[in-house]
Amino acid sequence: MADHLTLAIESSCDETAAAVLKNGRTVLSNVIDSQIDIHTKYGGVVPEIASRNHIANIDRVIRKALSDASVTLQDIDGIGVTKGPGLVGALLVGVAEAKALAFAAKKPLIGVNHIEGHVCANFIEHPELEPPFLCLIVSGGHTHLAMMRDYGSFDILGRTVDDAAGEAFDKVARAIGLGYPGGPKIEKAAKEGRPDAIRFPRGKVDDSRWDFSFSGMKSAVLNYLNHEEMMGNPVSVPDVAASFQQAVIDVLTEHAVDAAVELGQKRLVLAGGVAANKTLRTALESACEKKGIRLYVPSPIYCTDNAAMIGTAAYYHLIKGERDGLELNAEPGLRL
Ligand code: KG4
Ligand code: ZN
Repeated sequence: MADHLTLAIESSCDETAAAVLKNGRTVLSNVIDSQIDIHTKYGGVVPEIASRNHIANIDRVIRKALSDASVTLQDIDGIGVTKGPGLVGALLVGVAEAKALAFAAKKPLIGVNHIEGHVCANFIEHPELEPPFLCLIVSGGHTHLAMMRDYGSFDILGRTVDDAAGEAFDKVARAIGLGYPGGPKIEKAAKEGRPDAIRFPRGKVDDSRWDFSFSGMKSAVLNYLNHEEMMGNPVSVPDVAASFQQAVIDVLTEHAVDAAVELGQKRLVLAGGVAANKTLRTALESACEKKGIRLYVPSPIYCTDNAAMIGTAAYYHLIKGERDGLELNAEPGLRL
């Protein structure tokens, strides 16, 4: 059978990205144009600025993805694009672009769920990995514990009832003066601190074992900072960072490993931007090892937002014959 080439586009937040994949799992090119430096000035992503930058950059990013892969638009067999969830103005840029390309070049088009894309990032470097498996998705907007039953099909076991794990990292980073993006800055500061310096609560959700809650943990950090300030005590930023990071890691690890044991799952798949955190990867790896569970994690570049993961998810929809028409629209509140 001839190779299947997928062109994928991702613009749900502050990365303008395009990729070309061969047969769904081989990355021929992966271009990521990050706007982080632009949004850092404002302490977070400004939606209007993100949309404008996507518009300014998307053509160049797609051209580079095609040329890095040494292919033309005519060689492509299908186009995948993130349709949601995300910032509506940002998503619309990618969706409009994908529709225009699909129409002009007469190519099949498919809209992809961004969260599903994060999970599919694991297929790129683990050729033997196939559903069903248990997955833990931890990004800036989402925290889910789910069973991937088949390509494109998930059963949700638990989700966050308030903040996402990455959102908690971002908010705590702002509170301790580390700025945006919070995750990598907290991870760096935590290296110099003690994870057992301050005991922050490990949030639980009553009557719902697999759900997550991170807002209590975040509030506990804010209360601690206020209290220390009122008492005139100096605050150790590395200790707060390390102790907060440890609290998040404990909750994520306990949920995921308990669920794997209870459901008899021998594989756990980690995904999303927070999965780039090395301390989390190491902690989860050793907790899994103790229970005989194999942990799958993408390389950091495929954990945070990218189009290669969208291309992998798109491929499995396209080969099933699924198609979207030119009425495809952004769905900012799309759920897994
Ligand atoms: O998946 P992602 O790139 O975008 C969303 O789909 O939300 O995730 C971004 C989130 C941000 O909240 C960021 O702070 C967090 O992932 N993140 C990290 C690390 N790198 C990114 N959190 C903890 N440690 C990291 N090294
Ligand atoms: Zn993401």
